[in-house]
Amino acid sequence: MIEISTKNPRQSFFDELATSWNDNLTAENEIFIKTIIEKANTIESIGKKVLDLGCGRGVLFPFLKDWEVVAFDISEEMLRQARLRACQNVVKYVQGDAHNLPFPSNYFAKVFMLSVFPHFDNPQKVLQEIYRVLKHEGIGILIHLMDAHKVNEIHRSIGGAVKNDTLPEPYELLKLINNKGFDIIYENFDGCVAVIFKKPLVVKNIIGLSNSSTIVKQKEKVHNIY
Ligand SMILES: C[S@@+](CC[C@H](N)C(=O)[O-])C[C@H]1O[C@@H](n2cnc3c(N)ncnc32)[C@H](O)[C@@H]1O
Repeated sequence: MIEISTKNPRQSFFDELATSWNDNLTAENEIFIKTIIEKANTIESIGKKVLDLGCGRGVLFPFLKDWEVVAFDISEEMLRQARLRACQNVVKYVQGDAHNLPFPSNYFAKVFMLSVFPHFDNPQKVLQEIYRVLKHEGIGILIHLMDAHKVNEIHRSIGGAVKNDTLPEPYELLKLINNKGFDIIYENFDGCVAVIFKKPLVVKNIIGLSNSSTIVKQKEKVHNIY
């Protein structure tokens, strides 16, 4: 049987936008991002490796100076622009689709998503992948610099490949994250959106997977992908 693989239309959409992409942050945006990252940093970290998932042109890199950042995006052009920042803390640039993360399990201490979540065809699958690549007690950080209503309105007005890309309302978003076995550590829906969630040490019954509750021993595995 011949397998036909369809290209994610957002890849070419963001490739075309990459050179003109405006990721200038307002002073308020910067404060919001810093505050959320500081909050996430108060949780003890297991290791230094973090994933900037949907990094775009690398607007988050300067906020992640203390970490070894793997920059990941579906758009090669976005990654090309991100490289131009020449940030020393970025150890690797990887092109791929968040629905199939090309990283080992239990690998990252943190996964950041800034303004990317609505662009996933199957957010449950992406959360499942994030769960897999995070270490136990690793942290996911989801940030949007406006509320869901505004995000969705912007996507509708841009049209094209992102026309129907939707950031769920708070209750739905938290339910999606929770149903994949994460603990919600912090939530903020006061104008902007921020959710900090943790992969627990105790594996829960995850909706869509059949696994029993087990205590997992944290193992520091060395994977040579750099
Ligand atoms: C709205 S931009 C945000 C970029 C960056 N985080 C920022 O805040 O400037 C969304 C980014 O997600 C990337 N993206 C969309 N779908 C993706 C997927 N399935 N896997 C990985 N990256 C994806 C796009 O290429 C784009 O760079």
